[in-house]
Amino acid sequence: MTTPNAVYWDPYRPEFWANPHPVFQRLRHEAPLYRNEEYDFYALSRFSDVERGLTDKESLSSSRGDILEYIKADLPKTPGLFIWEDPPDHTAHRGVLSKVFTPRRMNELEGKIRAYCARCLDPLVGAGGFDFVKDLGAEMPMRVIGMLLGIPEEDQVAIREMVDASLRTEAGKPLQASQARNSGVEFAEYIDWRAKNPSTDLMTDLLQVEFKDPTGTQRKLTREEILVFVNLLAGAGNETTTRLIGWTGKVLADHPEQRAEIAQNPALIPNAIEELLRFEPPGPSVARYVAKDFEIHGQTVPAGSAMLLLVAAANRDESRYPDGDRFDIHRKGPPHITFGRGIHACLGAALARIEGRVALDEVLKRFPTWSVDIDNAKIGSTSTVRGWETLPVFTGNGSRSSVRREAAPTATQESAATQPASATGSWELTLSTPAGPQVMTAHIVMNGESFSGTMSSAELTAQEITGKVSGKTLSWTLPLTKPMPIKLAFEASVTGDTISGEVKFGMFGKGPLTGKRI
Ligand code: HEM
Repeated sequence: MTTPNAVYWDPYRPEFWANPHPVFQRLRHEAPLYRNEEYDFYALSRFSDVERGLTDKESLSSSRGDILEYIKADLPKTPGLFIWEDPPDHTAHRGVLSKVFTPRRMNELEGKIRAYCARCLDPLVGAGGFDFVKDLGAEMPMRVIGMLLGIPEEDQVAIREMVDASLRTEAGKPLQASQARNSGVEFAEYIDWRAKNPSTDLMTDLLQVEFKDPTGTQRKLTREEILVFVNLLAGAGNETTTRLIGWTGKVLADHPEQRAEIAQNPALIPNAIEELLRFEPPGPSVARYVAKDFEIHGQTVPAGSAMLLLVAAANRDESRYPDGDRFDIHRKGPPHITFGRGIHACLGAALARIEGRVALDEVLKRFPTWSVDIDNAKIGSTSTVRGWETLPVFTGNGSRSSVRREAAPTATQESAATQPASATGSWELTLSTPAGPQVMTAHIVMNGESFSGTMSSAELTAQEITGKVSGKTLSWTLPLTKPMPIKLAFEASVTGDTISGEVKFGMFGKGPLTGKRI
């Protein structure tokens, strides 16, 4: 029976997700072992309890997964999916991936991560605003994990969308067990190709590495196991880091004086990222199957139950983090529990940290201040992550038609890379092609008498472009290989927020080009 005014926690209610922290505080104080009858689960919220839950692998098992809905659905086992395994299978499978997915390998990626950030952010300098999630958070981690695994650039967006779709929930509703996709069959083509064409990527290493399997046999990984590993990394490495970057944009906009300190002193970035991870963890909870009766707070949680370990609540437990609801980039003291604990502690934590640090550094170099366009921002929660699905922000210098500035920018607010020329920014271009109108997006950064940037469309992933500037006229080319090899030659003039000109389609003639700033 529910007592009047008893604390109630429903993990699916969108209104809780906007700010779950007051309810989490009540859970810690009033119901440290919480029972939700409606969805039939238990939850722990105090730091010491969550830590105990994550490390007591005998009582709280990962064998049915770490997502509440999947635990209850008792899905068939996928060998090699070690995040859903207990020892000894977990030990063998995690062990072999750790051999090739090393912190050293992750640290070596820093330069490339910086280059991906620059590719996302440079075209936005001078545009007056950008979206922390759509323009950076969803792009960079996908490119990084794609490069690491050896997934061709043109396929990376499709892979990310597939992974995201498999975890998306309808507002207020649980994840459907039918959404689970663990086999990694979508990666089969790449693995088979890599088997014939070895390279320096992780897929190649996975094809070659040897390990002692759970039966004690020394062997190589099977094709099925490699597919599962690749799938796990692509899934675990994308949306969590995307949400971290979104929270970076939101929380630092809410604490401008701390953001200014970091902009002045980039040495503060690593601690700022740790505090962001504590304050708003991208994955607010992990779940476990109760394999053996579990005694806590004088009660018994019976074997066969599902237990939610509320990482986000544990991270603000006042007994461990004084004034835990306060964001403080100078906070010293015990580490957060955002990457889990024990045998399943996040294998990609080093990579997530580098991505978070580099992203913040590269944003601050270009945009020391920003304010959130809160009317157009959207927060969401799936059964695995909580965070901003879109977080548009206003930056200094330049404007977007929808932009409302909260503070007047100063000349130094955008980096030295800011260019005075009028074409810098993002453009939607409409080309009249022999096959009908074609819409493309161009991101342009002017540099005196030349410019660089990218062009993309629904069918074409971003292609690098460079061109010349003469007065108000820009000229550039775009070589295409599909549907046939052809070089498009553009010449167009910019007037304020519009662009017009013509494009030549090799031997197929030419057509008008029009466009507007977006
Ligand atoms: C901010 C970003 C991230 C967060 C908050 C996060 C969080 C977590 C957490 C809480 C766990 C433990 C799950 C459990 O105990 O059941 C975990 C496991 C894991 N994470 Fe992450 N993660 C992040 C980024 C990444 C990245 C970038 C990768 C790899 C590319 C990755 C790969 C993994 C893997 C493979 C596991 C399974 C480890 C095991 O079961 O032994 N994660 N992560």
